Amino acid sequence: MKVTVVGAGAVGASCAEYIAIKNFASEVVLLDIKEGFAEGKAMDLMQTASLNGFDTKITGVTNDYSKTAGSDICVITSGIPRKPGMTREELIGINAGIVKDVSSNLVKNSPKTIIIVVSNPMDTMAYLVHKTSGLAKNKIIGMGGALDSARFKYRLAEALDAPISDVDGMVIGGHSDTGMVPLTRLASRNSVPVSKFISEERLNQVMEDTKVGGATLTKLLGTSAWYAPGAAVSALVQSIACDQKKMFPCSVMLDGEYGMKDICIGAPVILGRNGIEKIVELELNDAEKENMKESAEGVRSVNDLLEL
Ligand code: 2OP
Repeated sequence: MKVTVVGAGAVGASCAEYIAIKNFASEVVLLDIKEGFAEGKAMDLMQTASLNGFDTKITGVTNDYSKTAGSDICVITSGIPRKPGMTREELIGINAGIVKDVSSNLVKNSPKTIIIVVSNPMDTMAYLVHKTSGLAKNKIIGMGGALDSARFKYRLAEALDAPISDVDGMVIGGHSDTGMVPLTRLASRNSVPVSKFISEERLNQVMEDTKVGGATLTKLLGTSAWYAPGAAVSALVQSIACDQKKMFPCSVMLDGEYGMKDICIGAPVILGRNGIEKIVELELNDAEKENMKESAEGVRSVNDLLEL
């Protein structure tokens, strides 16, 4: 199993680290445009191998896509990250050109690859890869919902004063401060609806904190987060590589599901050897449907800025 991660910044390096540490991939190639940068990150990570107990071989390359040839899965993290006060949508001008270029180079060298898009604005970048790469739709996956759901579970555990392993919950919709749809109605502590334990007001606070999860970290860190994004990517990669068929909300091209077409937006999917094995259609209530509709309008307004 060969995995390429494009972009050796904090997010890309975290992806490589978490993939390697789980020891299921034979090879991870880290690629960056900055001379020597990916090589340095790869070497540093390889020097953790004997300490952390993994055999995955991590190599770094400067913009040489021939070294990515034959990748089973490619992760795109390239582009500029958010700065405090910026929305993910504001990055489109620079990131669209980069993501288009990167995905075309990846597919040229690995025509059978599955692509995971991390670069922001992520739903629109996933849509762009669908429109320009020529890959089948089950092979393009936007990483957002898995991260947002992890942040949701963190906030739920905090509100419930419970261990995170007791808590379950999912965020669907767009990966944006206003577009996320945390499914509080379905969130549970060991199968018991969380509304049994916390007030509606507290639950609304959890929902709001979840939606601005990325922005909160950007303000604290001065740039966008990397540990949780890297861990979320590694979970998606592992489900595909090991054919685990786990369910994650991911940005997926819809073709009638959830009453939408020609849009990439977060919905639960089963991830296995073929990438997206299935889109899971949940029965949403009227309020959730309305939130999804508004979320989709937001994503479409960003998609409209693309020059396809
Ligand atoms: C985040 O929410 C990078 O979009 C990513 O942290």
